[in-house]
Amino acid sequence: MTEKKITTAVIRERKIKGAKITMLTAYDYATAMVLDNAGVDIILVGDSLGMVVLGYESTLPVTMEEMLHHTKAASRGTKRAMLIADMPFMSYQASDTEAMLNAGRFLKEAGAQGVKLEGGREMAGLIRKMTAVGIPVMAHLGLTPQSVLQFGGHKIQGKEEAAANRIMEDARMIEDAGAFSVVLECVPAPLAAKITKALSIPTIGIGAGVECDGQVLVINDMLGMFERFTPKFVKKYCNLNAQMKDAVRQYIDEVKSGKFPDEEHSY
Ligand code: KIV
Repeated sequence: MTEKKITTAVIRERKIKGAKITMLTAYDYATAMVLDNAGVDIILVGDSLGMVVLGYESTLPVTMEEMLHHTKAASRGTKRAMLIADMPFMSYQASDTEAMLNAGRFLKEAGAQGVKLEGGREMAGLIRKMTAVGIPVMAHLGLTPQSVLQFGGHKIQGKEEAAANRIMEDARMIEDAGAFSVVLECVPAPLAAKITKALSIPTIGIGAGVECDGQVLVINDMLGMFERFTPKFVKKYCNLNAQMKDAVRQYIDEVKSGKFPDEEHSY
């Protein structure tokens, strides 16, 4: 890929032109390089890292140091795509000062071109401060996994009229605060479509229907690597888990039988 670098301006332009935005997660150099070479627009080092790579039960235990470590690795494999780092739980909620310094670390130390944080109206002030000093912010509304304890599980959000209205209001507030885009997770498709029409910034959907300006999936989900559970919105484009297991089993058999290494793979 020799296309120009994806920036916030390119992302905004996509919405104006009606061209879809593609986003996937990556947590390491090798995967980021595959996504970048394939032409994905945005690589998100999501805090889903905690569940699909580090084996935590939820995203809550993920630390700044873990996110920085993986963002640095993904950054080394990313050239064309825009690299966004997810701010982990309690790295931005306690105080705006701490949030600004933590967001700055992703840009200064880890090579990210922006940060993502969860929340609506309660984050508007912080988003305003971050964008004012040059930190691009992607917001995240609907099912925000860092609030899983508050929600009582990974449940679709905005089904009732009042809840839908609140998400729409939140979307308008984070747009007004300066967010350059917003992830809509697990909201009814008609609500996501309405928000997408109402906003001038792009919406990136995950379990939010086809009318969003772009789509995102967790790479381990869409490659069929994460077996613990599969949300309804995940489409598995291959079954890497099974393929990896087959390959490893074949290797075990060949080592045990003496078939590997053969002459071709020996000096
Ligand atoms: O952490 C993550 O991977 C995310 C995406 C699912 C949007 O927030």
